[in-house]
Amino acid sequence: MEKQREQWGSRIGFIFAAAGSAIGLGNIWRFPTEVGRNGGGAFVLLYLLIIFAIGIPVMISELSVGRKGQKNIVGSFTSIKNTPLWHVVGFMGVLAGFIILSFYSVIAGWGVSYIFKFLNGTFTGGLSGSEVEAVFAGLSGNAIQPLFWHLVFMAMTTYIVVKGIGNGIEKYSKLLMPALFGLLFILAIRAVTLDGAMEGVIWFLKPDFTEIGIKTIFGALGQVFFSLSLGMGAILTYGSYLGKKENIPSNAMLISFADLSIAILAGLIIIPAVFAFGLEPNAGPALIFITLPAVFGAMPLGNLFGGLFFILLTIAALTSSISLLEVVVAYFIDELKWDRKKSAILAGIAIFVLGIPSSLSQGLWSGISIFGMDFLDLADSFTAKILLPLGGLMTVIFVGWVWGGKNALEHIRQEGVKFKLGGIWINLVKYVMPFVLLYILISGFLN
Ligand code: PHE
Repeated sequence: MEKQREQWGSRIGFIFAAAGSAIGLGNIWRFPTEVGRNGGGAFVLLYLLIIFAIGIPVMISELSVGRKGQKNIVGSFTSIKNTPLWHVVGFMGVLAGFIILSFYSVIAGWGVSYIFKFLNGTFTGGLSGSEVEAVFAGLSGNAIQPLFWHLVFMAMTTYIVVKGIGNGIEKYSKLLMPALFGLLFILAIRAVTLDGAMEGVIWFLKPDFTEIGIKTIFGALGQVFFSLSLGMGAILTYGSYLGKKENIPSNAMLISFADLSIAILAGLIIIPAVFAFGLEPNAGPALIFITLPAVFGAMPLGNLFGGLFFILLTIAALTSSISLLEVVVAYFIDELKWDRKKSAILAGIAIFVLGIPSSLSQGLWSGISIFGMDFLDLADSFTAKILLPLGGLMTVIFVGWVWGGKNALEHIRQEGVKFKLGGIWINLVKYVMPFVLLYILISGFLN
């Protein structure tokens, strides 16, 4: 007898969990970083366009495949079409989960350590931009300290995944998301009213069309996939716990809007602050760890708000990291028949080890460059810009041509669920997105 698969406790529970997966460092750390590196408003505009034209349709596709297959990424694909190709495609997602979590946990670890830096007063008294830069360099450049925090973060992620979905994920996310949104809102107001911030607001919102080229498009596409947790089975796996009566398209819209609004708020904090404090927008992964303390330093009760912010950021990162680990663990459980505990612990250890070079690449190993990138940037670019869009490309081909557009639409519309734009969606999935994604991937890669 097949055991009844776990399901979400409620619709709102699923939304919070999926939005929890989507909302994380991708919004608060990666989005401002990419905006800063890719010329501001033009990148933001492309990002918005791609969310609607590609992100949401891919999310609908993934949720449908997961709910239909009722399994992990590999199992779901192959339960619909059992050929070696779809094993490989599924496995690519598991691999992406592995690699993403390895550097994600390093960044999240920096965030955890900042909780303590705020609470013990490291940033008291409004440090200047360059003073905060020095504090960050002291942390990230150290060989041991960031590894300790990386370990702490991986241990927390593993612990939650061992306990199983549903138990914790729904509960935490319901509290966290409103709190995070509220705090970001307050911070955005503080940031845009700083002296000299307006220039940053304009740079963030006003597209400079000369900045648009294949590099920006490629970057924005990667950011959409990363931020919406697409292309590697996280959303697919969450969809596999979804009940038959749920409206997949409207859930996909809601999740994407929530994700988008957090990213825009984060951008409205970081970018104006960069300008106000005379920092460089293209500082890379370090950006938020330098600008944010400077903003908090310029606020009353800054240490308290700073500590609180990094606590919320840590929880937001956890609700994403568990979805990354869950992809790997669900694969081990379903396909290798390991139990949950063994799967999570072994995967957790392996991912911790894989994260070590990313951590060291910010200090001791900063001289090592591969394709002009340090190890962390390489792991990030390889997954966000290549593996995830490739996973998305294969998913839409799967839905449109292998499972079949008609079957997919029928699945979405079962039990009287409405999907007015279904016709447009399926045409996009079958005839437009495969070419567009392939084109961006190839030209971006050659670039
Ligand atoms: N979307 C998550 C974030 O923005 C990261 C993530 C990527 C999670 C891919 C799952 C899959 O932080």
